[in-house]
Amino acid sequence: MKKLSSKELRKEYLDFFKQRGHKEIPSASLIPDNDPTVLFTTAGMHPLVPYLLGESHPLGKRLTNCQKCVRTGDIDKVGDSSHCTFFEMLGNWSLGDYFKEESISYSFEFLTKVLEIPVEKLAITCFEGDENAPKDEISYNAWLKKGIKKENIYFLSKEHNWWGPAGNAGPCGPDTEIFIIADKEPCSKECSPACDCGRFLEIWNNVFMEYDQSSDGSLKPLKQKNVDTGMGLERTVAVLNGYDTVYQIDVFKKAKEILDAKEKEGEKQKRIILDHMRTAVFLLGDIKGVTPSNVDQGYVLRRLIRRAVRFARLIELDSEVLLEICQAFIDEYGEVYEDISQNREKILSELGMEILRFNKTIEQGLKEFEKLLKYIKDNRMSGKAAFRLYDTFGFPIEMTLELAKDHGVSVDIEGFERAFEEHQRKSKIGSEQKFKGGLAENTERTARLHTATHLLLCALKKVLNDQNIHQKGSNITAERLRFDFNFPRALTEQEKNMVEDYINGIIKEGVDVTQEEMSLKEAMDAGAEGVFGDRYQDKVKVYSIGDYSKEICGGPHIKNTSELGTFKIIKEQSSSSGIRRIRAILE
Ligand code: ALA
Repeated sequence: MKKLSSKELRKEYLDFFKQRGHKEIPSASLIPDNDPTVLFTTAGMHPLVPYLLGESHPLGKRLTNCQKCVRTGDIDKVGDSSHCTFFEMLGNWSLGDYFKEESISYSFEFLTKVLEIPVEKLAITCFEGDENAPKDEISYNAWLKKGIKKENIYFLSKEHNWWGPAGNAGPCGPDTEIFIIADKEPCSKECSPACDCGRFLEIWNNVFMEYDQSSDGSLKPLKQKNVDTGMGLERTVAVLNGYDTVYQIDVFKKAKEILDAKEKEGEKQKRIILDHMRTAVFLLGDIKGVTPSNVDQGYVLRRLIRRAVRFARLIELDSEVLLEICQAFIDEYGEVYEDISQNREKILSELGMEILRFNKTIEQGLKEFEKLLKYIKDNRMSGKAAFRLYDTFGFPIEMTLELAKDHGVSVDIEGFERAFEEHQRKSKIGSEQKFKGGLAENTERTARLHTATHLLLCALKKVLNDQNIHQKGSNITAERLRFDFNFPRALTEQEKNMVEDYINGIIKEGVDVTQEEMSLKEAMDAGAEGVFGDRYQDKVKVYSIGDYSKEICGGPHIKNTSELGTFKIIKEQSSSSGIRRIRAILE
């Protein structure tokens, strides 16, 4: 096997697929655009959903990239040899172009020729079929033809060999997964990639997205047959270099040296610190910049930082070390992900402040926890007590749970949730609640709000008579839009009414929303609005609403403004210095 570094593997992978007609797209932000069903980008396919559903992609039918991903579902497993909350996913896509055989051919060639992995080290799984979709004989035969031995190909159930949808509706299909066989005896006669004995390590997943799943679970064929693949960069580098854990690979080297120099015991704690700090660097440094808070992505970030601080305390590490580790990660990734190097100061100062805040409250919180322990009955902490720790002392509930576990105490989590909800209701934070429906259900509603967002920008320019007003942030849930723009003062009641009237006028007029593809330069020459940041460098989509609005945008949008209902501003407030924020709905 070729002992490649992360940088080398990234390059080899992208070059391989570029040489085979794929266009490289940049890694999208970790914060998904206009998707209320998930907090983070969890796979390379995520930003591509509209194109998997059939919209044409400006760069064509073959794409490849290295996508930064965050998955926090397995946060409790972090600390073992392979789980991370942040990882890089190498991917290649066919949007209605090649399908199973060609995809398998590419994967096989890359693994055996470029990475020089011996054929006998590879194990494969294929979908065994069920009442809704057939057994995947095509993939099985394609692998056989390549020289994988029969005994190394396993047919497994939907639980193992089906991927998607990412929300509860959208593109999905059977997959074929590629594993490396470790130098380890089978754990039993039935040993297969389905068991977690450690003999099989998954490195790549090729999904054949040919179905569209509705939120009721039913499947219908997609307009086009797609391929969506994802290779775990960290795991693959570990395998190629013969390492037992992902924490031995090059991206962790500098940060790990800093930790190891402190000569503290605690491998698991150290891994958790490394993992959480790396994710924090990427969330803080993202182009859509998250900061620690008590809601949504900011809450996850806060929890990661605070967990790292707690694990540092457990092994008696000064939290200053966390800052050093973050610097090491910024140095490590700054070249590949420019937002990380550009946001170096922000990352370090936000992190420093959060550590400070947490350290101040932690002493008090821990004391309070000890006090509470004296009063609890039957080794069970009430939900109210847990909520008090959260609300008054800033203890994330997960931290209370961890501490409680250490003391052999259980926590009434339902009671905590009830207290939490009651608090939310009272303080009206509830209005920010996430819409829980699926991607497809939401698509229509978010598309309407998305079009309304474009109208809002043109209305603000018109009513406030200022062409220098631009979008500074946007967030859409199924219920409302939130739009940030540069303007030095609050809007008057009259101005807000005028903005609403202007937009409702365009809605009544029934103006068509049209879309064209052009080069970025053409779009800019045509006066299109756009936040370029991490967008496609080459061809872009421009959405126009009559002569009212022209914006570079990925969509989706509705077809005619008459579909929008009535536009209403709910709130106008300051967001930060020089930036105003409007929340609005369509009734
Ligand atoms: N989307 C597929 C995955 O995440 C490739 O495994």
